[in-house]
Amino acid sequence: MKNLITLPTNFDDYLTIENADLRFAEATDVAERVIGAGVEIYPNMDHAAIFCDPPHIVADGLKQLGYVNGWDARCYPSPVDGCDYINVSAQLSADSPARSEGWFDYVAVVHPVDKPALQHMLSQGYGNPFIHHLTWGLVPPEPITVDDFEYANRVVPFMVEKRKVIGDAIGDAPGTLIIALPENVLSHPKFEASLPTWLGDLDEEEYQVESMQGGGFLIQFFVLTGGRIEVALRVDTTQTFNPKSVHKISEDEISAVQGK
Ligand SMILES: [Fe+2]
Repeated sequence: MKNLITLPTNFDDYLTIENADLRFAEATDVAERVIGAGVEIYPNMDHAAIFCDPPHIVADGLKQLGYVNGWDARCYPSPVDGCDYINVSAQLSADSPARSEGWFDYVAVVHPVDKPALQHMLSQGYGNPFIHHLTWGLVPPEPITVDDFEYANRVVPFMVEKRKVIGDAIGDAPGTLIIALPENVLSHPKFEASLPTWLGDLDEEEYQVESMQGGGFLIQFFVLTGGRIEVALRVDTTQTFNPKSVHKISEDEISAVQGK
């Protein structure tokens, strides 16, 4: 397994996070099961979501590693447990040596913006900062065609199938399949008729479909209860997340109360 996935080897040199070992152990376990079920993932994680206050206690270390804080000129409002958080994303530059040391492509630096959020976050006893979740990137099916609709026609059923395979391999019910697609796929004349065939027997509450700001595909779901480990498929995105997806995930899929 060691040669198939990479965890940051020098994590403690840059970030002091009490629950990091626990999350890395969970992520490794998930990776073993996912790969064992025949699903290909990238060696480096797609992203980590880290809750903290104030944000610089995470962002400082990230900057030293070569991340660009707020690289996509976006922030993502995150109503977790009815409290107001804001997520500012950092991206590791492509040529950063930190990549070969196992660092994640992106980090969601999530911080409370109201006092109830701060108190709620601190009262969980996970530490400040704490890793909320870690996300493995799934290798997308090839070839990545130039026609977005044609690719959606392949990649949505691909993710519906992987969600089932991964759910069976892990033994936890997977979270909602959050599907963000290029706008021109949603406005395509064949979209309405094709979507049900892509989704198969998924119930209405098991998926959300939306357009991806800036284009590209981002399809994701949580694989452990409590929203601790996630998988995501990303193709040609120009920003880390999609605001509508983050809102839905924050409201319905995750909590600052994570249990074990
Ligand atoms: Fe995430």
